[in-house]
Amino acid sequence: MDKIIVHGGRALAGTVKISGSKNSALPILAATLLTKEPCVIHRVPDLSDVHYMLQILNHLGAEVERASGVVTVKAEKVSTVAPYDVVRKMRASVCVLGPLLGREKEATVSLPGGCVIGDRPIDLHLRGFESLGTAVRVHAGDIKVFAPRLRGASISLKGKFGSTVLGTDNVMMAAVLADGVTVIQDAASEPEVVDLANFLNKMGAKIEGAGSSRIVIEGVPELHSAEHEVIPDRIEAGTFLIAGAIAGKEVTITRVNSQHLTAITNALESSGYEISGNNGSLTIQPNGTLKPLNLRTEPYPGFPTDMQAQMCALLATAQGESAVTENIFPQRFMHISELKRMGAAIELDGATAKICGVDGLSGAPVMASDLRASAALVLAGLKAEGMTEINRVYHIDRGYELIDEKLGGLGAHIERVKV
Ligand code: EPU
Repeated sequence: MDKIIVHGGRALAGTVKISGSKNSALPILAATLLTKEPCVIHRVPDLSDVHYMLQILNHLGAEVERASGVVTVKAEKVSTVAPYDVVRKMRASVCVLGPLLGREKEATVSLPGGCVIGDRPIDLHLRGFESLGTAVRVHAGDIKVFAPRLRGASISLKGKFGSTVLGTDNVMMAAVLADGVTVIQDAASEPEVVDLANFLNKMGAKIEGAGSSRIVIEGVPELHSAEHEVIPDRIEAGTFLIAGAIAGKEVTITRVNSQHLTAITNALESSGYEISGNNGSLTIQPNGTLKPLNLRTEPYPGFPTDMQAQMCALLATAQGESAVTENIFPQRFMHISELKRMGAAIELDGATAKICGVDGLSGAPVMASDLRASAALVLAGLKAEGMTEINRVYHIDRGYELIDEKLGGLGAHIERVKV
């Protein structure tokens, strides 16, 4: 199990290229199961989650080829069974359910297990499938879905914590091959949902309204081959903006869509950073004192839950008291106790982290608990005095392509140690 060691206190400067989005690439790769013809996906990041998804496609019978960021998938014939052994490593494997149901009208996929960031049910996905005329059974750890035929329907995907991103993806992927028109109300409007809808439309689907809370899908008899480039990863981009904020002189991120980053750049500007740039790149510079913030995570276009941990790391050294409330995954605070080990003064009050800014952090051995928590610890390590040793970094490799090399390129003193 690798660990990452960060020697803090180096000022970062330079330019870093942002990779394709993990959370777009995963459902888009799953969507290639909807056609017998080959699909070519560009800018697929080299991450362990992507690797797991390709293993699942392979297990389901697809031919998969990968060469430097370009993945070709040809699913001429598919099996409809994805057992525990192939899906257990990644919750996002649940998004093969929609395309298998759409194409074969049946699927058996092992139920995803627990997750450190919270309960993560899939009741909304299943409710959506049922509205399309699907019978759903949960038996012996598997979800079995079966529909003699899929019928378009009006479906609301509103849950206790808002809509659902992968649930919207799943229902959309099943509905593209349903008879008639499906209307998804309370749909997730994240850019990754729009990216998937754009790819499906290239395959011959008829989807309108993606990016709003009402998506209309007119079913078609079949889909065909398509070529697509995945959008930039807005969470990787935001994480590197915070790296620039926490330890930078001047850091530029390139190959980004700055419109997707508005909530993050607004928050950073409110806390005293200067951000400039055009649509394809952004530069962050310190501009005086780091001010505290009151932040709430919300569905897009609000501040993303996937940036909450990194923001807590930044605000740990702001001058004054910040409050960060987690509205999407109220238990997503595993990073707090680790940040406290580095000298942060943070108390949890329900789903709110109350952060009292300290003058500095000190390096310490810490444990990564999930993907974004690990990123927060790396960021804190860049700021801290001395050495921060981050264990269980396989979490970070799930979602950040070459993070140690990219930070090293900006001047960070960071090393990966094989244990
Ligand atoms: N929820 C339900 N029922 C459902 C589905 C979701 O109650 O059937 C609840 C969840 O428990 C949560 C809220 O709805 O409270 C939102 O969850 P959502 O379904 O939107 O999450 P997801 O689709 O499973 C994706 C990303 C997550 C990201 C969330 C929220 C992928 C592969 N994952 O998960 O990304 O945090 O949307 O934006 O796209 C990450 O990259 O680190 C990550 C966790």
